[in-house]
Amino acid sequence: MRNPLSDKVVSIPPSGIRKFFDVVSEMPDAISLGVGEPDFDTPWHIREEGIYSLERGRTFYTSNSGLKELREEIVHYLERRVHVSYDPLKEVIITVGGSEAIDIACRAMLDPGDEVLIPQPSYVSYEPCVVLAGGTPVIIELKAENEFRLTKEELLEAITEKTKILVMPFPNNPTGAIMEQKDLEEISKILIEKDIFVLSDEIYSELSYRGDHVSIASIPGMQERTVLINGFSKAYAMTGWRLGYACGPAEIIKQMTKIHQFAIMCAPTNSQYAAVEALRNGDEDVAVMREAYDQRRRFMVHTLREMGMECFEPYGAFYVFPCIKEFGMTSDEFATRFLEEEKVAVVPGTAFGDCGEGYLRLSYAYSLEDLKIALERLQHFVKRLRDKK
Ligand SMILES: Cc1ncc(COP(=O)(O)O)c(C=O)c1O
Repeated sequence: MRNPLSDKVVSIPPSGIRKFFDVVSEMPDAISLGVGEPDFDTPWHIREEGIYSLERGRTFYTSNSGLKELREEIVHYLERRVHVSYDPLKEVIITVGGSEAIDIACRAMLDPGDEVLIPQPSYVSYEPCVVLAGGTPVIIELKAENEFRLTKEELLEAITEKTKILVMPFPNNPTGAIMEQKDLEEISKILIEKDIFVLSDEIYSELSYRGDHVSIASIPGMQERTVLINGFSKAYAMTGWRLGYACGPAEIIKQMTKIHQFAIMCAPTNSQYAAVEALRNGDEDVAVMREAYDQRRRFMVHTLREMGMECFEPYGAFYVFPCIKEFGMTSDEFATRFLEEEKVAVVPGTAFGDCGEGYLRLSYAYSLEDLKIALERLQHFVKRLRDKK
């Protein structure tokens, strides 16, 4: 029989995040700080709206681009939160999570040979999506000494004649790094000069702990070259509803909508109705969850530093990214032994790119009680390692 598989697909390694979770689910007393999803339930009034939409018999396809009502709410939201204006009819598409938006943006924009700059460590899907779209990923290694921000020097060094897109993964999963106004202005100047587009993944925009999130689309001259991606999973604790969106220049959104039309048809209808409610009346819920994450964030950084672990302060998302280089193990070895010996699952930094070696991703989207137990266990583990030295 001939090989039924695509060489391109087979060449892509599976995500390194899930590896430890099957073990955890079988292990009594195990704690996981592995999953990158809110521990909160979707706020009740949002769930109610989803249920109500089903009761009302709204069980049909929406338009390919998504409910007009929702696109209009997204436009109001972005005006209010990041001060950019979009045309809800031509510049917005509702997608199945931010995940689909990343995928179809790559497919709509890339031709073979086009290079896409991907700062890493970063979310696991950018590189495979670029490869599947026929583009060539070019990795930029972010550095701890720059608080894992992208610097203009790093950007300039990576640009070639073939560079078409820069992925901007901030606030960042897994490092928690953010890019502030002045950082974005420096980067933008280069992007405009070199005529490069941006895929700005702002899924953690609501989880910024040092001032409001700044979108690169709000920098003068950038909106026309930026596809802004966001969604409901993280801010509104709606991962399972599978809803996100992309906003950008009409000609790009038009082509993305074509792919979406053939591959997906439309995002889930009842999720779209629930999302309208989230945007209209969800600000307070987001503020309460952000406050809880912020408390946990400070607890995590403080406790890790008390243990003598090097950990830069993350100002976004819900992850800390401590350094484990002093122990002379790979991230994978450390995470494997930590799980076996102390029953705590964390994700090796290398799951987010080779330059994540020497780091761990700890999610703090867990209760303070669980975080306390997990860090006590980490303290025991670290002490044993140090005593053996
Ligand atoms: C940085 C980043 N972008 C995008 C996503 C995709 O989220 P969703 O498809 O649930 O909107 C995730 C999920 O973990 C993420 O961490």
